[in-house]
Amino acid sequence: MSALPNYKFSDAEGHDFPVLNAANAFEGRERTEANFGGTLGYGTAKALAADELAHVKSILHRKVATNAAAIDPEHGKLVSGTSIEQYHTVADRIEHAKMFSKAGRILSDADVKAIRETSLFDTVRDMFGDYTLSDEEGVGWEQISFRFVRPNVAQDVGFLHKDDWFWQYNNWPVPAGKKRAKCWVGLVVDAGRNGLGLVPESHTGTFDFDAEQVGNKLAFNPRFNPDDLDIVRFPGPAGQPVFFNYHTLHVGSVNKGNLTRVSMEFTILFN
Ligand SMILES: [Fe+2]
Repeated sequence: MSALPNYKFSDAEGHDFPVLNAANAFEGRERTEANFGGTLGYGTAKALAADELAHVKSILHRKVATNAAAIDPEHGKLVSGTSIEQYHTVADRIEHAKMFSKAGRILSDADVKAIRETSLFDTVRDMFGDYTLSDEEGVGWEQISFRFVRPNVAQDVGFLHKDDWFWQYNNWPVPAGKKRAKCWVGLVVDAGRNGLGLVPESHTGTFDFDAEQVGNKLAFNPRFNPDDLDIVRFPGPAGQPVFFNYHTLHVGSVNKGNLTRVSMEFTILFN
């Protein structure tokens, strides 16, 4: 079994993450999967409004409370009565791993439809035109998944990877004629202490890996040294999205903050 990696992150300034829009998201080049995200392979856009952020957080809170209640009604009450920011303070009294299985981290169709009403998806439409969200796991609806990362728990974050690697490993077919891009949104974040790190320009590089199933998690063992790479941590506040190329190397950082870090993500399929 692989040891958990200990990646080094560099902290970026806001201007290190260009604001993407319809005009620059493909740098004026052909709207291909490879060209999305410009030179760096990522960027940001307008944040969720405060009321939208609160609404999305309330949807996730209800979802994790439902997950906990399905295991034990008392666990459900405990999670329901604790803010998502303080989730880690009750996590050792409930079955955390079972609650956050891959299936447990995928939102229901109704929750996805509610989140799709936020201004974030106006931004997505402006940038990509007609689009759908992917359903590579085959749940039967457009997927939005989420993650809770407890303070100082290395197991709660994954391995440096390109999202395309999951599709390669699982033999998920890309729907005919579709191209992919990714969006990640921190909902509870402490900039500089946790959040998403991305490797600039990595989408154009060749990075080989070996995949290994470790427990219920897929580990990617790089055939390169991640210490040779600059992993830039997104400095944006809660509610501000990161859009990135499907071939950009990225990873969540171990949470060095005091609150549970909460994020959501989805794959955009565009024409
Ligand atoms: Fe990823």
